[in-house]
Amino acid sequence: MCGIIGYIGTEEASPILCQGLKNLEYRGYDSVGMATVSGGLEIRKGVGKIDDLRCRLNFEEIPGHIGIGHTRWATHGTVSFENAHPHADCTKKIAIIHNGIIENSDRLREALLKRGHEFAGDTDSEVIAHLIEDRLNGFPGQRGAGDGEPGTGSFDNGFFETACLDAFRLLRGSYAILAIKEGEDKIVGIRKDSPLVLGLADHGTFFASDVSPFLEWTKKVVYLQNYDFVVADGKGVKFYNLLQGEVSRPVDTVEWSMEEASRGKFEHFMLKEISEQADTIQRALQQDGDVIERIVDEVKKGFGVFFVGCGSSYHACLTGTYLLSKVAGVHVNAVLASEFENYEHFLTEDTLVFAVSQSGETADVLDAVKAARRKKSKIIGITNVMGSSLSREGDELMMMNAGPEICVLSTKTYTSQAMLMALMAYALCDKHEECVQKAKDLYMDVYNLTSKSMRVRLKDLAKELVHKEHIYMIGRGLQYTTALEAALKIKEVSYIHTEAFAGGELKHGPLALVEKGTPVFVFVSRDNEDRIVANAQEVKARGGYVIGVSDWNHRVFDRWIKVPECGDLNPIIQAIPMQILAYELAVQRGLDPDKPRNLAKSVTVL
Ligand code: M6R
Repeated sequence: MCGIIGYIGTEEASPILCQGLKNLEYRGYDSVGMATVSGGLEIRKGVGKIDDLRCRLNFEEIPGHIGIGHTRWATHGTVSFENAHPHADCTKKIAIIHNGIIENSDRLREALLKRGHEFAGDTDSEVIAHLIEDRLNGFPGQRGAGDGEPGTGSFDNGFFETACLDAFRLLRGSYAILAIKEGEDKIVGIRKDSPLVLGLADHGTFFASDVSPFLEWTKKVVYLQNYDFVVADGKGVKFYNLLQGEVSRPVDTVEWSMEEASRGKFEHFMLKEISEQADTIQRALQQDGDVIERIVDEVKKGFGVFFVGCGSSYHACLTGTYLLSKVAGVHVNAVLASEFENYEHFLTEDTLVFAVSQSGETADVLDAVKAARRKKSKIIGITNVMGSSLSREGDELMMMNAGPEICVLSTKTYTSQAMLMALMAYALCDKHEECVQKAKDLYMDVYNLTSKSMRVRLKDLAKELVHKEHIYMIGRGLQYTTALEAALKIKEVSYIHTEAFAGGELKHGPLALVEKGTPVFVFVSRDNEDRIVANAQEVKARGGYVIGVSDWNHRVFDRWIKVPECGDLNPIIQAIPMQILAYELAVQRGLDPDKPRNLAKSVTVL
């Protein structure tokens, strides 16, 4: 969940690393650091965000054409100077950065301590620097423990890379690692279950957790595979795979532009991404007809279908189950990826698993994919990031085509996922074209919902709610899944406790929470209006403050957010004002909507 970057080339590394770390900050932002080699090794790091530390530590003045940088989301060890990356070995000649989790770090650390190594902090990552040091000192290490152990051959291109290779073989867990050393004109990298891509520019080579830090310089990329071990020096890049030996990797071209990955005139990425939805929803429809046909066939003949995701992607899965049931009469199961192991025993060769993940790197989702692979079930990946692990894992792939989403919150990618769910539901009953038409008709509605006037109205509502401690949301059917997503948006960005309930469940417990003035949002659609309005009356009778989200203003509402009635596409339409409201609440509470506390965009740990 951290962001890593490396550069080796003819340019000064530190300004490139600073800019790159800024772009990677969405992956973690509790501490940041850099190391360069310019004859000697220099490391600077600290607690805080890149913008704070850039000036305080004069990051951009560190000399050298070779460097690595890291922005952290703490897992092992508190947020502190000592635990910030890069980490050094005892001699302070080797520096490493790491994203992932080294599962056997305690055992490795114990062995290293016995041999006299001294550790500065508590992270699992620090062992890597000491292991490399150990190998350079000729210590053979204990074999048989690491993931990379079955490897064959060695990398006989120099001591440092051989030491790194031997050290990496001892690691168990997930890792994207970059290592540099004083006196060595190279960067050594490896990945397993954590993302690492290379950018190939005329003036040098980039390593990064994703393409955003180097889009300004190059669109030529190499997506590394598990156990790929890479050495970049002034002359080029060498690839080796711990399990396969020497390998070559194809060069791809990224389609995302630099402009898409920048904030432009918007104050925050969140607002920019919300406002892009008129277009991104349409782009979700750009799917290969043959792929859709094959997926439809598989669903029809499949023995059990699972939609698996986390957070907003899970809400899109849940929306999918309602849509497929309602539109096509097809039963599918939505399961939280982190709970999927409880369903594994249902998987057979005829089961279909849809793995839904914006980033394509969510560890829980990839774990579910592994389970499905073990049982030989068919896997269909739905992701927004080409080159991500999920984009390469599935038997079929649907891309969301939403462009880069930088804000930690899912906004445009949620509505793209919901659009894809609707597309599948309609395709399953041969109404693919009807869905495309409905979506086209949505364009102006979405455009208007993301307009300035809507924002002004929601700003006003946010002023009323900004000091509330609790907000509740209710809906039925597709409006229930919308309520879940709306509640997640508000709680994660404004830190106001927000919960969603199925309308019919209110009287089974949650109604006890409602007192005079408690805000309760009610999501209404024409096809279930009577029942949900009755639930709204139950709230009103207890003094609750009812805020309706619908196409008409019912007398039970104290406040009304007007949205057009769009039937099966209501989950898309009704989510948008809630995203804007969440944004306004965060801003009015003085919070950074792009980087909520304790969260990271890409959750690459289980
Ligand atoms: O990249 P993914 O779609 O797999 O991410 C899943 C969740 O981590 C993500 O949706 C998260 O809940 C967002 N913060 C929601 O806004």
